[in-house]
Amino acid sequence: MSEHQGPHLVVLTGAGISAESGLKTFRDGDGLWENHRVQDVATPEAFARDPETVLRFYDARREQTRQATPNAAHRALAELEQAGFQVSVITQNIDDLHERAGSRDVLHLHGEILMSRSSADPNLRYPVGRKGIRLGDLCDKGSQLRPDVVWFGEPVPRYAQACEIVAEADLVLVVGTSLAVMPAAMLLDQAPIEAPCLLVDPQAESLVPRGVRAISQLASQGVPPLVEHWRQAGALWVPDWV
Ligand code: APR
Repeated sequence: MSEHQGPHLVVLTGAGISAESGLKTFRDGDGLWENHRVQDVATPEAFARDPETVLRFYDARREQTRQATPNAAHRALAELEQAGFQVSVITQNIDDLHERAGSRDVLHLHGEILMSRSSADPNLRYPVGRKGIRLGDLCDKGSQLRPDVVWFGEPVPRYAQACEIVAEADLVLVVGTSLAVMPAAMLLDQAPIEAPCLLVDPQAESLVPRGVRAISQLASQGVPPLVEHWRQAGALWVPDWV
């Protein structure tokens, strides 16, 4: 349990919140992720078949992440925390833009691009330096290192923890996710019945699950006014424009 006493906002973010920082989403365009089919770069089978291609792909994603900067949506969420609210971020993103904006309570459901891990033991994790991950880079137990990201077909080890966080929300804010991927999409079912749930996404009207209120805007346009409203109210009230 947190010692925090302020109203508790739980934020579930996806690739859309980082889109305006220049990082591509997965399902907006041609079905490819940075010119690759996901099954060629983001599955355990791909890593077994062609580890060099997979490592090179994630090295490139890591460099992109390092060059990107947080945008107004990331910053607004961090400001709300600084204003005394309890803000728990659960992100499907592997970038570190929430942390760099100043958010301190961030759970990465799908792992972190800036970390590597042992292919034999997921608990052996190491920061990745500028040279990236190479074939032959080994963990302390002698197994090949791989990106510390959750690939398609792999379990999501932090899902249970994420469920517990959502269950304690006073309000759930979802930003920039198509809610297409399980089990993240099921997290909303864990919210307390009395906690309002809002979705900020340009496609919100078509994506919105039952009981969720749609705000059809870009993250940088939709999130800062919500945060300003909550700061002024000192509470997580749903604004009358939603
Ligand atoms: N602001 C807010 N939302 C945006 C913006 C923006 N500027 N630009 C795009 N979006 C929205 C799109 O409308 C879409 O609904 O972001 C969403 C991105 O959806 P996906 O590409 O499916 O990304 P996400 O939901 O995060 O994917 C989940 O799938 O590929 C896996 O593991 C990967 O974490 C990822 C997971």
